[in-house]
Amino acid sequence: MFVRRGLPGDRVRARVTKVKRNHAEALAVDVLSPGPQRVDAPCAHYPACGGCRFQDFAYEAQLEQKQRQVEDSLRRIGGIAEPPLEEIVPAESIFHYRNKLEYSFTQTPSGPALGFHKAGRWDEVLEIERCWLTSDLGNAIRNRVRDWAREERLVAYSQADGTGYLRHLVVREGVNTGQALVVLVTAPGEKFERERFVEVLRGFPEVRSIHWAVNDTPAEVTNVPSTLLWGEDAIEEELLGLRYRVRPNAFLQTNTKMAERLYGAAIEFAGLTGGETIYDLYCGIGTIGLSMAAHALTVWGVEVEEESVACALENADLNGITNAAFYAGNVGQVLEELRDRAGEPDVVVVDPPRAGLAGKALKRVGETGAPRLVYVSCNPTTLAGDTKRLHEEYGYELLRARPVDMFPHTPHVETVALLAR
Ligand SMILES: C[S@@+](CC[C@H](N)C(=O)[O-])C[C@H]1O[C@@H](n2cnc3c(N)ncnc32)[C@H](O)[C@@H]1O
Repeated sequence: MFVRRGLPGDRVRARVTKVKRNHAEALAVDVLSPGPQRVDAPCAHYPACGGCRFQDFAYEAQLEQKQRQVEDSLRRIGGIAEPPLEEIVPAESIFHYRNKLEYSFTQTPSGPALGFHKAGRWDEVLEIERCWLTSDLGNAIRNRVRDWAREERLVAYSQADGTGYLRHLVVREGVNTGQALVVLVTAPGEKFERERFVEVLRGFPEVRSIHWAVNDTPAEVTNVPSTLLWGEDAIEEELLGLRYRVRPNAFLQTNTKMAERLYGAAIEFAGLTGGETIYDLYCGIGTIGLSMAAHALTVWGVEVEEESVACALENADLNGITNAAFYAGNVGQVLEELRDRAGEPDVVVVDPPRAGLAGKALKRVGETGAPRLVYVSCNPTTLAGDTKRLHEEYGYELLRARPVDMFPHTPHVETVALLAR
C-alpha cells in the first residue's frame, strides 16, 4: 500500500484511491500519531500547493532519502554492488533558495490572482500570498503585480476555454547581485498600459529588466520571445566569482548557492592541472566550462539552444575569458566535428537534461575516449543507466559520486560523478 502524504512511522487515517492486483494507493487524510520525522510545515499553502512535496518531512530525513535514492539507482540500475558514493551535500538554505519562479494567473471573485498549480492538478491554480521558496523580494514583486492587475481590471486567461488575457509571470533574481528581471506573459493583444506596468515595477529598485511576452498557443509555456519594456535586456548573476548575463529564457541553475557547490564538485572531480582540453557538453550559458577555464588550456562548449550559446559567448567576453569557445549543436551529432576543431579532450563534462545521454549522445561521448568524464546529473535513474553502458561499452569505471541537494522539499537530487578509463 502506497500512502500519499504519509511519512515513515506515521499512524494515519487514509482514503484508498486505487486498488491494483499487487498494490493499492491511498491518500492520508488524518495523522493519528506522527512518525519521528514529521515536522510542522511552515508554509500556509502546504500541502495544497504543488510546489513543495515534503515540507513536513524533517530535512535530515529528506537528505537520507535522497542519498539512498542515488545509492539504490547505482546498485540496481547501474549494477554496481558497492557504489563509490560520497555523503550528500546539504542545501545551504532549505527555504528561499530559488532564483526563478513562474507563476500562473487565475481568476478569482476579487479579480486576477497569481499562484501555482494545485498538487496533482493541471487545471486549478492556488493563489499564493507567501511562497517559502522565493525571497521576500520575489514575494513582494508577485503580490504587487497581482494588485496592479486588479487595479487595471484585467482578466486572467482561462486554460479551459482560452478566454481572458493574463497568463504567467516570471520573476528571476540574481541572488549574488541583487538584480531582478520580470516577464509578463499574456494572450495576444496589448490590453494594458505599458508605462503604468513599468512604473509599478520600478517601485522595486532591484528590478532592472522588464519584459512582455505573448503566448498565442494553448500550451502553458513561458519561454516565448519577449519584448523589452524597460531597462537592461538582461540581468547579471555571479557564480564562483564570474558574472553571467541572465536573459528571460536562458537556462540558469535555479539555486544559485548550491549551483556554486555543484560546480565546485565538478571542478574538483575534473582534476585540472592547467594543460587540459575540456569539452563542456550541454553547456547552457557556459557556466561550468567558464568556471573551469582558469584551470585548463581550452574549453569547448556545445549546447542545442542558440540563445544560450549566444549568452555563453557573451559571458566569456564579460569575464575576459579567451580560452573558451561555444557552439550550437546537438551532442549526439556534432562531436566528430568538434574533435576536428578542438582535438582530443582530456576531460569531458556532461550536464544533460533528465533523459540523460539520450539518442546518439552516449555513443558519441563514449567514443571520445576521454580519460576523465565528469557527469553532472539531475536524475539518478538515467545517471545509473548511462554509467552502466559507459562501463560495458566503453570501459569507464565510476570512481566517485557526490549527491548535492539543490531542491529541499522536492524529490529532486543532483549528483556529480567521476568516471575514468
Ligand atoms: C541541465 S541543463 C545544464 C546547463 C548548464 N550546464 C548549467 O549548469 O547551467 C541542460 C542543457 O542541455 C541543453 N540540451 C538539451 N538537449 C541537448 C542536446 N541534445 N544537445 C546539446 N544540448 C542539449 C539544454 O538546452 C540545457 O541548456
